[in-house]
Amino acid sequence: MASSATDRGEKRHRIIFQPEGKRGEFPPGTTILDAARDVGVDIESICGGKLTCGKCQVIIEQGMENLSPVTEDEQRLLDKKKAGKNYRLACVTQFFGDVVVYVPEESRGGEQIILKEGVELSVSIDPAVKKYYLELSRPHLKDDLGDLERILKALKEDYGIEGVDIDFEVLRKMPDVLRNSDWKVTVSIWNDREIIDVEPGYKVEESYGLAVDIGTTTVVGYLTDLRTGEIIAVDSMMNPQVTYGEDVMSRITFAMQNPDGLEKLSSKIIDGLNKILQNTCDQAGIKTDQVSDMTIVGNTGMHHIFLKINPEHIAMAPYVPALHRSHDVKARDLGLNITEGGYVHVLPIEAGWVGADNVAVLISTEPYLQEEMWLVIDIGTNGEIVLGNKDRLMSCSAAAGPALEGAHIKYGMRAATGAIERIRIDSETLEPEYKTIGDAPPRGICGSGIIDAAAELYRTGIVSKNGRFNLDLDTPRVREVDGTPEYVIAWADETSIGHDIVMTQKDIREIQLAKGAMSAGSQILMKEMGLEKVDRVIVAGAFGNYIDKVSALTIGLVPDVPLNRIESVGNAAGVGARIALISREKRNEANEIARRVEHIKLAVHPDFEKEFTKAMFFPHMERKRYPHHEEILKLREKGVEE
Ligand code: FES
Repeated sequence: MASSATDRGEKRHRIIFQPEGKRGEFPPGTTILDAARDVGVDIESICGGKLTCGKCQVIIEQGMENLSPVTEDEQRLLDKKKAGKNYRLACVTQFFGDVVVYVPEESRGGEQIILKEGVELSVSIDPAVKKYYLELSRPHLKDDLGDLERILKALKEDYGIEGVDIDFEVLRKMPDVLRNSDWKVTVSIWNDREIIDVEPGYKVEESYGLAVDIGTTTVVGYLTDLRTGEIIAVDSMMNPQVTYGEDVMSRITFAMQNPDGLEKLSSKIIDGLNKILQNTCDQAGIKTDQVSDMTIVGNTGMHHIFLKINPEHIAMAPYVPALHRSHDVKARDLGLNITEGGYVHVLPIEAGWVGADNVAVLISTEPYLQEEMWLVIDIGTNGEIVLGNKDRLMSCSAAAGPALEGAHIKYGMRAATGAIERIRIDSETLEPEYKTIGDAPPRGICGSGIIDAAAELYRTGIVSKNGRFNLDLDTPRVREVDGTPEYVIAWADETSIGHDIVMTQKDIREIQLAKGAMSAGSQILMKEMGLEKVDRVIVAGAFGNYIDKVSALTIGLVPDVPLNRIESVGNAAGVGARIALISREKRNEANEIARRVEHIKLAVHPDFEKEFTKAMFFPHMERKRYPHHEEILKLREKGVEE
């Protein structure tokens, strides 16, 4: 394969990139990286050939003798990266004869990650914020180009990036950063059009974003590595606005009735998000201003209050939101402490009551790509349901209340250490077995435990299908306190709170109301779509643990489908927020999908009251809607876990 010296400069040499097999012919002296770009092979080159990142390693399969010699700097970096034999750095290695190059997986750009939460799906990583390392020439009397122009010139020469502007605050600090860093800096560019940070030195590999799901009751933040899509730290809290009202409507009313109501609600959530930002950054050992991008999902009420937009109009007919499309706003304008020039991307809204959280659920479960009819149920205080496939999508929002997230339940709590997350009751002895988060002594029951408890109490006959306690059972666990029946899940001496943890008659009523609203929503969407049954049910919700499918079917939280046609996917809205953080394509897809969904207004639907009343029963007043129900009860009887 060697080319003679006389060939050099006259011939073109062939390069083949494996495993794709792409190939091309180039003049002698072309770098492997330039050739790769030309033939469309994506090789990581995050330092832009400055011999700092070592990401562009390739393996030479043939033609080693046709390459430029290894320099000391290249060797040092190869050693540092513990590169194997035949490895070279594509950005500096030129070829002067034919070569065959293998691009190992870790050096391939446009990487995909497989998200295991939600429906398993692969996402191409293309975040809105990307970092570029620059080594700038120092200005002198014969080269007095302005600092910004010097950066823009280098961006064009090293990375082919043009048409970029700069954030004003970043512009102000830039001259000092350049001079204090010996003109070696890392530049963060948002959406290929604005410099949002200039940091001293090589910081390309420190690229972070925060994805946040603002639920009415629970707020969850995921600190994410923008280059790999991996979660680095997670933090959650009760929505601090809870003190002004437990559901969306009462918070909107508070905003409307108090002159500073919106200000108060908005600053509560901003403070809360800054705490989540601080906590996740502390866990990761980074500073909050190293976080350069943020995505937010939430229902329409949470969305408007977060942006401090008057939410009044979404509460009144015709329930019109201030905007449907996604919106980018400077984090500093909202008081969020990420990097000074950074943006917050707020996902689009479907309708007055179906918000960005549901759009997030959609992009993480993708019913709009399916032939089959999928029903996606996102359980929350403001539960959202979508039914459809690639041809048609319908949604509705069900005011389920916070019971399934632990509020309004005597010993309900969010999913944290000590929360009972699984409960099984022996049908003979009526004795329970439970599992807590962190295997700690119990101190309450979280969402998945609450659904389990209702299902098990019903399955074992402790409560009837209309939700009433049976007080004639021979067990000390069923008792009446101050006239209210209850079941003892954990005796005081087992707990960390020093008193019995129970499920009361009132708790069961709250669960019936919540599940009744969700179930009525599903039934109405099916009717509107002209369906008797659906092909698949996806159950999502920010419960900490996944909802048990058998329990969900036992109480009729989801419509009757074979067990293997239900998927419990955890916090799909949070997954959607994470997807939007690392994929610009998915941000665009979210905007398209949000406009395609037909919205059914449940509250004014003529069948809602009737459906709601029937759906309050376990599993449903009309048993014929649950033909598989006996089978399901037997499965749990046999100890089948799902
Ligand atoms: S691109 Fe960074 S070392 Fe080659």
